[in-house]
Amino acid sequence: GNYGGDLRPQVHFSPPVGFMNDPNGMFLDDNGTYHLYYQYNPTENVAGNQHWGHATSQDLYTWTNQKIAIFPSAPDEGIFSGSCVVDSNNTSGFFPNQTNGVVAIYTLNTPQRETQDIAYSVDGGYTFTKYAQNPVIGSNTTQFRDPKVIWYEPTQRWVMVVAYPVDFKVGFFTSTNLRDWTPVSNYTRYGLTGWQYECPNLVEVPIESTAKTRWVLHVSINPGAPLGGSISWYSLGTFNGTHFSPDDATVQLTDFAKDNYAGQFFYGLPPSQDQITLNWASNWQYTNVVPTAGSEIGDGFRSVMSVPRGHFLRELPRRGLSLLNYPWNIHSIADAELASNSSVGNGTVLLDYSDVKSRAIYFEANITGLASSDTLSGSLNFTFSSSTSGEYIQGGFFIAPDNNLWLDRGHTNGFENPYFTDKFSATALYNKDGDGEFRVSGIVDRSIVEVFVNEGEVSATSVFFPTEPLDTMALRVSGLNETATVSVGVWALRAAWL
Ligand code: FRU
Repeated sequence: GNYGGDLRPQVHFSPPVGFMNDPNGMFLDDNGTYHLYYQYNPTENVAGNQHWGHATSQDLYTWTNQKIAIFPSAPDEGIFSGSCVVDSNNTSGFFPNQTNGVVAIYTLNTPQRETQDIAYSVDGGYTFTKYAQNPVIGSNTTQFRDPKVIWYEPTQRWVMVVAYPVDFKVGFFTSTNLRDWTPVSNYTRYGLTGWQYECPNLVEVPIESTAKTRWVLHVSINPGAPLGGSISWYSLGTFNGTHFSPDDATVQLTDFAKDNYAGQFFYGLPPSQDQITLNWASNWQYTNVVPTAGSEIGDGFRSVMSVPRGHFLRELPRRGLSLLNYPWNIHSIADAELASNSSVGNGTVLLDYSDVKSRAIYFEANITGLASSDTLSGSLNFTFSSSTSGEYIQGGFFIAPDNNLWLDRGHTNGFENPYFTDKFSATALYNKDGDGEFRVSGIVDRSIVEVFVNEGEVSATSVFFPTEPLDTMALRVSGLNETATVSVGVWALRAAWL
């Protein structure tokens, strides 16, 4: 693939050529290597002909492309989304002589039906053999997909969540051997339904500053998101090995804007640590026509993954317990600090980053010393622009009146599409008598921007397509009360692909 294009992100994963959608099968192996599989069409720049592409990484930013891991066996088959587990105790019987056997559980899509199938790998996840007795869960419907499997220690069972998309239903199945599965419960019709449920995840996540955890049921819906197309949400609750019981009838959105879908949690990270996802940074409404690819295979690519996101639960004023969504270990890929100012006050930080090879930037602005609720005021805005064409993206945070994070990709000219919504905002809804501190941070990487409040109490993922590279940053603070200070840091991010 050609990784040098102006729209090709440098700290995000994208496929060498062809079309990518959902992340699949992610796990950390016992050598400390992260494995990412993904919905992959290696022969066209549009969705279809689904294979499992594969890449590996030590740090979740620097990826090595591996050979395609799972291929369809017939022209009308698709290897749809699913997950992997490491069967270290050989529960499946596929791995008599090893502790690093990997089982992939995926949907086999044909024009007649979707079934849940498995394949096993004796070489640590690089090559797979399909199980001769597939499917492991049969069906007569074309609407039954995206199995995600975890190990549930208390009952010594594998647990699968899988979507019945048009019934708005998540099915729960258990197994002792990954071959025989028993239906144990259904979770149905909570939250936004959209047109269909896809890509469910069940994961145990730590609660900040406690030894406690809570279970998260994470569901993607498409189409039918509030701003159109695809989005995902989560519900918090308890899990007893067979049933998920939501704490209440509410759900929260994982991310705002329009390019964060089908997120998957890595398999096997202990619940005492923050959980990690990658998310498909696109939207079914326009993914097949974005301008990163031409009509020929090898001519560009389509779709990128979000940066890895770390997740834990925090009790927030007004919102209650919430899933935080922050850029995992982003400082580990920070190169030179391009700007640093610990007392910006009301003022501007300007930066020309045309010399930065990656043209990928991370910035952080920490606002402290805000006055009490009745005098809260001020805002922080950022603009990333092209010195040659004048195109720009912008965003910011309004402290008053209601802690809004916003983003605007409308002043870039490389893509016209009725669904390519320009502007997004989300209200963080802090308690206005809170501690008077905020952090606003963001990653801008050629054709994708991700922004965060604090450790991801609010987050947004958005792709954008300028005709000329962005190379200039301006960060402006205005209207702050006198007691407040803002400290700003801006870093070049290390190019993972050049
Ligand atoms: C979600 C999805 C999944 C399906 C896959 C096919 O984006 O529609 O439900 O398994 O994509 O590529």
